[in-house]
Amino acid sequence: MHTIVLATQKGGSGKSTLAVGLALAAKQAGFTVRLIETDPQGTLSNWQRRRTAEDLVVEPIYHAADIAPRLNMLADSGLQLAIVDTAAGLSAATTAAIRHSDLCLIPARPSVADIEATASTLSVARAWKRPYSFVLNQTPIRGQRIDNAANTLAEEAALDLAEVLARPLIVMRNDHQDSLAGGLAVSEFAPNGKSADEIRGLWQWIETRLELSATTNALIDQVMSAPDGLLHAATGLSTDETTTLAS
Ligand SMILES: Nc1ncnc2c1ncn2[C@@H]1O[C@H](COP(=O)(O)OP(=O)(O)O)[C@@H](O)[C@H]1O
Ligand SMILES: [Mg+2]
Repeated sequence: MHTIVLATQKGGSGKSTLAVGLALAAKQAGFTVRLIETDPQGTLSNWQRRRTAEDLVVEPIYHAADIAPRLNMLADSGLQLAIVDTAAGLSAATTAAIRHSDLCLIPARPSVADIEATASTLSVARAWKRPYSFVLNQTPIRGQRIDNAANTLAEEAALDLAEVLARPLIVMRNDHQDSLAGGLAVSEFAPNGKSADEIRGLWQWIETRLELSATTNALIDQVMSAPDGLLHAATGLSTDETTTLAS
C-alpha cells in the first residue's frame, strides 16, 4: 500500500482539496483508495456527507497513536492507496502520518507566507527520511510569481526543482471550490475541464514518484532496521559512515 500525506502548517493552501482531487483521480486510474482525515475541522467528513455516491470512504483518525496501527490494518486488507489529509499547524497526528508515509506532499500557494510555512513540515519529513514534494496550488495561469515561488521552494529544499516540485502546477479555478461544495471531486464535476486535467496529471506524476521512491524507501528501511554487524557486511561501509547513514 502507498500512503500519501498532505501536510503544511498553513491553512487554506489546498490540503483537503488536493486530497479529494487526488483520491478520485487515483480511483479512476484503477487504485483502491481510502481518505484518512486527521484534521478535527472535518473538511473531508463534511464533503462526504454532501456526496451521494458511496464509493469513497472518509475515515477520521484524530489520535496520533491510532494512525500507524490503522495504516497497517489497511495495508493488510489489500488497500492500494491511503491519502491522509492533515490539519494546519504541526500536531502529533500530522507528525505520525508523515512518519508512516511513502510520500509527503506539501502544498503551497505562490506566496511568501505559504512558502515560509512549508519549513516545519519539510523538517519533519527529513527527520523521518520520508520522500517529499511540493505542490504549487492556486497559482495564476502564468507569470513571474510562479517562477519565483518555484525557485524559492527548490532553494529551501536545496534540491533540483524537477525532483522536488510536483507537476503540473495547479491553477486557481472555481471548479475546485464548486466540486467540493457539491460533494464531488474536480474530475467528476468537470471531467473535461483544465482543472481535472491538471489533477489527473498530478496523480500521474505522483504515481511515478511513488514507484521511484519505493526502491529508496526499501533501502532506507533496511538500513534503519539492520543490526550493526549485518549492515556493515551488507554495505561494506566503515562504522562511522554507517552511523551517519542510519542516524
Ligand atoms: N486550485 C484551487 N483553485 C481554487 N480554489 C482552491 C484551489 N485549491 C483550494 N482552493 C480553495 O481554497 C480554500 C482552502 O482550500 P483547502 O483545501 O480547504 O485548504 P487546507 O485544507 O490546506 O486548509 C477552499 O475554499 C478551496 O476550495
Ligand atoms: Mg483542510
